[in-house]
Amino acid sequence: MKLKKLYTFINHDLNIIEQALKETIQSEHPVLKEASMHLLQAGGKRIRPVFVLLSGKFGNYNIDVIKNVAVALELIHTASLVHDDVIDNAELRRGAETIKAKWDNRIAMYTGDYIFARAVELMTKINKPEAHMLLSKTMVELCLGEIEQIKDKFNWEQNLRTYFRRIKRKTALLIAISCELGAVASEAPVDVQRKLYKYGYFVGMAFQITDDILDFTGSEKELGKPAGSDLLQGNITLPVIYALRDQTIRNEIITNFDIHDTEKASHIISLVKSSGGIEYSKEISDRYLYKALKMLKDLPNCKEKSALYNIAKYIGRRKF
Ligand code: IPE
Ligand code: IPE
Ligand code: MG
Ligand code: MG
Ligand code: MG
Repeated sequence: MKLKKLYTFINHDLNIIEQALKETIQSEHPVLKEASMHLLQAGGKRIRPVFVLLSGKFGNYNIDVIKNVAVALELIHTASLVHDDVIDNAELRRGAETIKAKWDNRIAMYTGDYIFARAVELMTKINKPEAHMLLSKTMVELCLGEIEQIKDKFNWEQNLRTYFRRIKRKTALLIAISCELGAVASEAPVDVQRKLYKYGYFVGMAFQITDDILDFTGSEKELGKPAGSDLLQGNITLPVIYALRDQTIRNEIITNFDIHDTEKASHIISLVKSSGGIEYSKEISDRYLYKALKMLKDLPNCKEKSALYNIAKYIGRRKF
C-alpha cells in the first residue's frame, strides 16, 4: 500500500495545492525562481499539506482559505530543507541535486529565505492572529532544533532527552502545527484543535525517528538522499545513542571514528546496525505512533479520521 492511496479523496484539493505552490514561488529573479522550482519539481511527499487538509475537514472546510495554510506549511518545510542541506553538506535531495550542490551555499541561503518569505506572505491571507503566533513560534523552535544539532555534533555524551528535544523542535512541531492550523483555519472546536495538535506531535516524533533509522537501513536510491551520512557527519541519532550504551561498542566507535577512512566508516555503521539500536528505535517510534492513534479516539468518525489513522500506521513502515 502506497502512502498516497490512503487519502485519494483529497486528490482534487491536493492538485490545487500543487498548482498554488508553483504560483507562489514565481519570481522575476531567474535564479530564485529556478532554484525554488528545481526543488519543488523534484517531488517530495507533501505530507504536511495532507495533514492540513485532513485536519481542516473537522471544521468548516473551505479550500480557498485552507489552501493558504497548506501551501505555507509546505513552503516552510521546503525552505528548511534548503538550509538543512547546507548544514548537512548534502548533495542529493528528492533524487535531484541539492540547491547548495547545483548552485552554491550563498544561493541556498537566499533561496531558503525567499521561500520562507513567500510562506509568510501567503499566511497574511489568514485573518487570525493566533495562527500567526503559533506558526512563528514553531519557526523559532525549528531554528533552535537545527542549531542545537550543530552544537551537539560529535557529543558522545548526549542523552535521550537532548535527542528528543532536538527532534521535537526540528521536525515534530511543524507537523503538529500543520494539523492544528488546519483545524484553526477551519474553525474546528478547540478540543479538536488540541487533539489534532497532539496527534501531529506524536506522529512527527515517530516521523523523525523513522528518518533517522532509514539513514542506517535505507539506500540512496530509495530515499532520494544520501544514506548513512548522519553519523559520519557527527549527527548522533537514536540508534547511535542506544549503541553507545554498550561500553565495548562505544570504545570501538569513538576510537575508530574517521570519516575519511571508508573501511572504518562502514565498520562503525555496521556496529550501530548490529547493536540493537535499530530495533530499539523502532520500538520508541511505535510507542509514539500508538500515542498518536489514541489522540484520534474521541474525534468524530469520518474518512479523514481513518486517513489520519492509516497515515500514522504507515509511518512506522515507511521506506522513504
Ligand atoms: C524530510 O522530510 C525531513 C524531515 C523532517 C525528516 P520529508 O520526509 O517530509 O521530506 P519530503 O518533503 O518528502 O522530501
Ligand atoms: C530534518 O533533519 C531536517 C529539518 C527539520 C529541516 P534531517 O537532516 O534528518 O533531514 P534529511 O534527512 O536531510 O531529510
Ligand atoms: Mg539535518
Ligand atoms: Mg539533512
Ligand atoms: Mg535525516
